Amino acid sequence: MKGIILAGGKGSRLYPATRAVSKHLLMIYDKPLIYYPVSTFLLAGITEVLIITAKDQARSYQALLGDGSQWGIRFSYAEQESAAGIAEAFLIGEEFLDGSACALALGDNIFYGAGLTGMLQEMAGRTSGASVMAFQVNDPQRFGIVEIDADGNPLSLEEKPANPRANWAVTGLYFYGPDVAEVARSVKPSARGELEITAVNQVYLERGELNVVRLPRGVTWLDAGTFDSMLEASHFVQTVEKRQGLKVSCIEEVAWRRGLISDGQVRDLAAAFNNEYRDYLLSLLDQPS
Ligand code: G1P
Repeated sequence: MKGIILAGGKGSRLYPATRAVSKHLLMIYDKPLIYYPVSTFLLAGITEVLIITAKDQARSYQALLGDGSQWGIRFSYAEQESAAGIAEAFLIGEEFLDGSACALALGDNIFYGAGLTGMLQEMAGRTSGASVMAFQVNDPQRFGIVEIDADGNPLSLEEKPANPRANWAVTGLYFYGPDVAEVARSVKPSARGELEITAVNQVYLERGELNVVRLPRGVTWLDAGTFDSMLEASHFVQTVEKRQGLKVSCIEEVAWRRGLISDGQVRDLAAAFNNEYRDYLLSLLDQPS
């Protein structure tokens, strides 16, 4: 399965911070925001990744992430001309996908918790239909919402409803069969002129092909799209990392644990840093993996 990370948008909700720097390059505690979805993909076993940036921004992401070979990943890059909606990612990425099943991650979504890897791998193993993750939230008006019956089957989807029927938010990590570009092309732009991801998921729901995985309480989902949510996410990561001495979404570590890079490569990566991040990477090599 291939993966697309959508790191587009003008980030105008974060002006002036994002006037010169793209949102997903800003840091969440000790690493850039884009590290988090890249790590999520690695946990899911996805190593062929297209990064879609806003217009004229691909170069900054390339400077940070390169071609991915340092982590055993293959990155490609593309730009989104204007904010035409999340589902446009499948049209921009159609050539990259070349008819394969794919996952789409929003660049500002962070996942952390017990059992996550197994859930991700299970969803990445599906080769048809759509799979989404639902997370219980306190403010359902802010998200795409899925109503679920007692057996966990989806009943309805709504994008940012004024009067939500449920408090299960659809998170920004989606898995689809090879037909997703065709489905994205078939949906009409919404009232705000965007190709909505919820409209794509609605097609799968109507076909009876939408699989919803409810995240248990032991898994945390954060979206870092506002000043407050970025700070909260930073505090969350800081708290977990300081308490345990284990990093959250450390690409180098995940790549090494998954056997994508060798001890020697970890040493070389660490040598480029001169801080606690370097010490952490080197300390991994002294522990039984
Ligand atoms: C988007 C989707 C929404 C989803 C959310 C998750 O909203 O449209 O369905 O719940 O991402 O982060 P946005 O945050 O881009 O407004």
